Amino acid sequence: MVKKISSVPTHVAIIMDGNGRWALSRGLPRLAGHRAGTENLRRIITACVEFGVKYLTIYAFSTENWGRPREEVDGLMHILEDVIDRELAELHKEGVQLRHIGRLERLDPKIQEKVLEAIELTKDNDRLVLNVAFNYGGRDEIICAIQKIIRDDVAPENVTADLVGRYLFTAGVPDPDLIIRTSGELRVSNFLIWQGAYSEWYVTSTYWPDFDKDAFRKALDTYARRDRRYGGLSKIDEDKPQHA
Ligand code: IPE
Ligand code: IPE
Ligand code: MG
Repeated sequence: MVKKISSVPTHVAIIMDGNGRWALSRGLPRLAGHRAGTENLRRIITACVEFGVKYLTIYAFSTENWGRPREEVDGLMHILEDVIDRELAELHKEGVQLRHIGRLERLDPKIQEKVLEAIELTKDNDRLVLNVAFNYGGRDEIICAIQKIIRDDVAPENVTADLVGRYLFTAGVPDPDLIIRTSGELRVSNFLIWQGAYSEWYVTSTYWPDFDKDAFRKALDTYARRDRRYGGLSKIDEDKPQHA
């Protein structure tokens, strides 16, 4: 039986951090951590479908991750390719729609092609939208949006938050309700810096490969108890009689 979670977030975004430390703590190479992290992703996607989360955005490779040793970068590219090869059919069957945010251009043409094929194959699925942030950076996304806005000759007075949203990689996707970061770091690391303006945060010291379904449920339970005020007052305060 599926235990019901009240106020399930529509959009969950995850900074899947701690793969390297997970591997190190087991005396394994860092790439073994990345592989274990990918296995875990499978579990969390299934949990999202089960719990009724409609959008899942995962931070898989940042614009700054190019600065890692060549061997690790190459390994991460292979893992992406591998995941598409091994998991696509199953994801498609589960009703997952794949999308990509970030810049595809810098990736190997063969990988670019695979990503585009996966997006095309799954474009009509609607159980869960899985946004893969790969070669993604929040600042890069905003720069890209500004460039396109200027190229489209948008008049300055027409530049609104809604318009900017439509020029971001995430156009059409609601802002994340909940951002989870595993492995304990208390920073944004260039992830969804525009879209996360009013997201709730959940940080756990658990490394990503160990962040299982129960840990995910705990994050969603915590979210369900949050009071999202958006700069206003909480519902309880609003209902109280006001005295001038
Ligand atoms: C997150 O794990 C995955 C990527 C950044 C690709 P890390 O590789 O950052 O793991 P730690 O933070 O070094 O433990
Ligand atoms: C953020 O993790 C990027 C991903 C999870 C893909 P990092 O490990 O790259 O971030 P920092 O270096 O700790 O800020
Ligand atoms: Mg890290």
